[in-house]
Amino acid sequence: MAADETGAARGDRPDADPRVRRAAALARRPRGIVVAIDGPAGAGKSTTARAVAARLGYAVLDTGAMYRAVTVAALRANVPPREGPALDALLAGLELALEPGPSGTIVRLGGADVTDAIRAPDVTAAVSAVSALASVRRAMVELQRKLGEAGGVVVEGRDIGTVVFPDAELKIFLDAELDERARRRGRDLETAGHGASADEIARDLARRDATDSSRAVSPLARAADAVWVDTTSLSLDLQVDEILRLARERGA
Ligand code: DC
Repeated sequence: MAADETGAARGDRPDADPRVRRAAALARRPRGIVVAIDGPAGAGKSTTARAVAARLGYAVLDTGAMYRAVTVAALRANVPPREGPALDALLAGLELALEPGPSGTIVRLGGADVTDAIRAPDVTAAVSAVSALASVRRAMVELQRKLGEAGGVVVEGRDIGTVVFPDAELKIFLDAELDERARRRGRDLETAGHGASADEIARDLARRDATDSSRAVSPLARAADAVWVDTTSLSLDLQVDEILRLARERGA
């Protein structure tokens, strides 16, 4: 090997060379690296995660969909959002399955498709309270690690870089100003047939941000080593390109 082919040969840190990093990452994770994308509601995590995963040939793990599915199960079984035997029984019997679908993750509860049901307004209103419960988080984090630890996955949520995969090879904190997030969420809701006013949506997002950021267990927080990406005036293509560049640098 010529002396100028690797950083190591030049006397730099060996892990500065993308090929060395790639080999090290693959030894640990046979399917590729873990890309963690965290951020507040409406920052564009799902769209970005799907686009990045498609370009890398990776899977997507939508952890918000998992908390939404637990919320659907709790609402259907009339289990209130608090710790106790009723919640323990619900979690013990939970048959939650996630499959990649053409326009996002397909979510099943007990075999039945709840992909649309998890986006209903009553579920959105209740999900922050359910996802703040320690027993719910324990169960979901365990499942998320099992599903993602082999790598080759883009995992999106609120605590992925801080708690679920603190050793993720790439951590992104995706953010945008509240008004812009409300505008995007309004467009998504309209497409899904759940109309709401811009004010209502902004209030809901602000309320969820506050609950998600202030809860005692794994609050929404930016990991110290996460790359902060503000998408307020960034096009999807540009933010995806930037994340892909970083992912390749980290061994994807
Ligand atoms: O991303 P989303 O809006 O579908 O997430 C729904 C809720 O789930 C959100 O209010 C916070 C919670 N959540 C969480 O607490 N931790 C995660 N890793 C993902 C989502």
